[in-house]
Amino acid sequence: MAADQAFVTLATNDSYARGAMVLGKSLRNHNTTKKLVVLIGPQVSEPCKGVLQRIYDEVRMVDVLDSGDTAHLAMMKRPDLGVTFTKLHCWTLTHFSKCVFMDADTLVLSNIDELFERKELSAAPDPGWPDCFNSGVFVFCPSMETYGKLLQYCTEHGSFDGGDQGILNGFFGDWATADISKHLPFVYNLSSIAIYTYLPAFKQYGGNAKVVHFLGKTKPWNYTFDPKAKRISGSMTEATSHPTFLMDWWTLYSSAVVPLMYEQYGDQPFHSGCVEGESPLQAQALPPLMSSQERKERWEQGQADYLGMDSFDNIQRKLDSFLK
Ligand code: UDP
Ligand code: GLC
Ligand code: MN
Repeated sequence: MAADQAFVTLATNDSYARGAMVLGKSLRNHNTTKKLVVLIGPQVSEPCKGVLQRIYDEVRMVDVLDSGDTAHLAMMKRPDLGVTFTKLHCWTLTHFSKCVFMDADTLVLSNIDELFERKELSAAPDPGWPDCFNSGVFVFCPSMETYGKLLQYCTEHGSFDGGDQGILNGFFGDWATADISKHLPFVYNLSSIAIYTYLPAFKQYGGNAKVVHFLGKTKPWNYTFDPKAKRISGSMTEATSHPTFLMDWWTLYSSAVVPLMYEQYGDQPFHSGCVEGESPLQAQALPPLMSSQERKERWEQGQADYLGMDSFDNIQRKLDSFLK
């Protein structure tokens, strides 16, 4: 076990904590040799903290930092992202020499320990503006000096998007041009947005995905799942994720995380998001889905399913909603 290297994530509330639980399980399932650390805020409940402690090596409470920058956040239509400033605390983990930060809405599909061969600051391009890196997955070296400089940068320049990604791209401002080895391949941070903006590329390369990022307002935990019928329900117009990746998330969550939640919650009621036999009339139902392994096999046989969820109509609807 590489004791001085760690994967790090952040959850300031119980919703993102569920994401962190699934992410941690996905890293363990792919036999990482690195430590797992989750930064949490005081809002995370005791039972959720208990589950995180069973999955992560270290659960560390941090102060929630909020940019309070409503104007820039409104431009992204994400008023909730001011608290992502809290992510900067990851530089204070100086008992590690190198870490990989991963958003709580990411899911690992294969072993990615090779990322630790990269230098600070390595990250994949953002699909919306590829000269910026996406701060959902990045390699960094904890250092109090860097942490101090980052906070100073915040005070002097603020963040152009109101969240951490704006600061980090300002601070590591030569990322786009200085050193190509700091550009992670897109498959280490594949966001669902790319499926809608460049479908043929997704068809060609999507099978190599190593990390999926459920970027955007609607997160996997905002849907409900019927484990018996293997059916995910939610508003179709909000479906920003590829259905097979969403299925991978729910399969792992319902099988490996929900049992731990039942143990930690004991007699206290909680809503796992798993429902049996929910009527498709009550919630607009998505069609039954296949796992990424099945999808890969189908692709290899040249049978991609673009008549269903990724039909032209659905893509059109998605684009329309973006343009609005
Ligand atoms: N986050 C959090 N609480 C929040 C919002 C965000 O803990 O209320 C953390 C979490 O790790 C999350 C990351 O900050 O994955 C970035 O936010 P998000 O993933 O929602 O942004 P997106 O990738 O959709 O732009
Ligand atoms: C992004 C990133 C996310 C970051 C947010 C705010 O879209 O995916 O990780 O927290 O912007 O800057
Ligand atoms: Mn994210």
